[in-house]
Amino acid sequence: MRNEKIRDRRARKVASQSQKALKPIFFHKDLANHFVRPDWVNILGLRSSVENEVYTSFVRNKDLLNELDEQTQDMLRRPEFYTPFDDLTMYKSAVELGQADMHPILGGATPTDIRFFENRTEGRTPQARHAVARLVEALHRLKKRVLIQPGDLLGSANNDCLHNKDVGTIRDEKALKERWLMKTVNVRSLRDHHAHLIEGRPRIVNG
Ligand SMILES: [Fe+2]
Repeated sequence: MRNEKIRDRRARKVASQSQKALKPIFFHKDLANHFVRPDWVNILGLRSSVENEVYTSFVRNKDLLNELDEQTQDMLRRPEFYTPFDDLTMYKSAVELGQADMHPILGGATPTDIRFFENRTEGRTPQARHAVARLVEALHRLKKRVLIQPGDLLGSANNDCLHNKDVGTIRDEKALKERWLMKTVNVRSLRDHHAHLIEGRPRIVNG
């Protein structure tokens, strides 16, 4: 029974879109649907092998918007898209999250804000689906890949870019399973988030 549970947990880990996934993770920003959206995602490389092509790729919002025509951008500003809550948001959440709502991809919190998770965010009209296809095509054309090695520290402005994990040739399966990146998600200021902090823990979000 216990072995089954462990196998089940491992299978979920391999298939999930969480940081612990062994397979590619599609383009997204971290916790885009969460009530406290991080401004920074900081990653420290702890264990990684040069034998394995596991890239963290980035596209700046600015570059992405330069690539998309006005018609596509207008479509992306409409609230005709849906994204289910992501794995990390759902995992052991301390609060009842309910159902994710319809939202625009572009221009939520700021004019250049992009709320999008590749293969999860979907358009609910043919035009919206077409805009998503243009967006995905531009992301993969523009992406810049980083091979994070032990000791590398990478700070990414979560709301100013999208990132993914690309997996290429793997020559050392064992090293892939032992790959370890330490990651924190942070906000610039606690000022707007007091309602969501754990009582007595003034810097920790509840959920
Ligand atoms: Fe991420």
